[in-house]
Amino acid sequence: MHTTPTQPRCFALLPCAGSGSRAGGAVPKQYQPVAGVPMVRHALAAFRAVPRIARALVVVAPGDGALAAQAGFSVADCGGATRAESVFNGLNALLTQGVHTGDWVLVHDAARCLITPTLIDALIDACLPDAVGGLLALPLADTLKQTDDGGKVAATIDRAGKWLAQTPQMFRIGLLRDALAAHAASGFAGITDEASAVEAAGYQPLLVRGSARNLKVTYPEDFALAEAILRNSRP
Ligand code: C5P
Repeated sequence: MHTTPTQPRCFALLPCAGSGSRAGGAVPKQYQPVAGVPMVRHALAAFRAVPRIARALVVVAPGDGALAAQAGFSVADCGGATRAESVFNGLNALLTQGVHTGDWVLVHDAARCLITPTLIDALIDACLPDAVGGLLALPLADTLKQTDDGGKVAATIDRAGKWLAQTPQMFRIGLLRDALAAHAASGFAGITDEASAVEAAGYQPLLVRGSARNLKVTYPEDFALAEAILRNSRP
């Protein structure tokens, strides 16, 4: 059953259950230090600095509770085999904790540790008046190439109107949970972000301009880049 609170609240959900194999390292990348602090803590701090975020829930892999405790935050250890499954399980956890289906959720990758309160506020401002919600994204600046199987260029793709999806992505919790539920039987095949599930359900999410700074730490060299940006942006 869908419930609409009189004043919808905003919750943050941070999927943090990946293995981060492309980043290397002894522990998953989201627990590795950036500027001396586990990566996920930077993302969490940005959400905690936004007064309109009622609460942030971090979804970790079953068994990673101790890692998370060392990192210093409370969690739901219901991470799944894919990012979409981790998000789906986290949404269900929020709903069992008294969150209404009509409340908003901002889903954010723990690996995007350079998110700022200003960007989060911009997304909330843009989405609150909207019926569906939306996501931070950046217009594609580079020329886009399609490869063939041998690693050579097969085609140049027209970049006009193309955007790179970032997080956070902000939707009504009930709408997003139902949109993801439709893909549970297929193991969430093809669902690489929240918006793709919402689109498949027939809605059109808003594109809200993000920032190049909001990069996703993915490869070993990204740690030094993230650290340099963090150190240079400190007051
Ligand atoms: O691997 P990738 O960088 O695409 O992961 C994006 C985010 O999703 C990361 O914060 C990662 O921890 C999370 N994730 C998850 N559960 C998975 C896979 C990824 O929570 N099974």
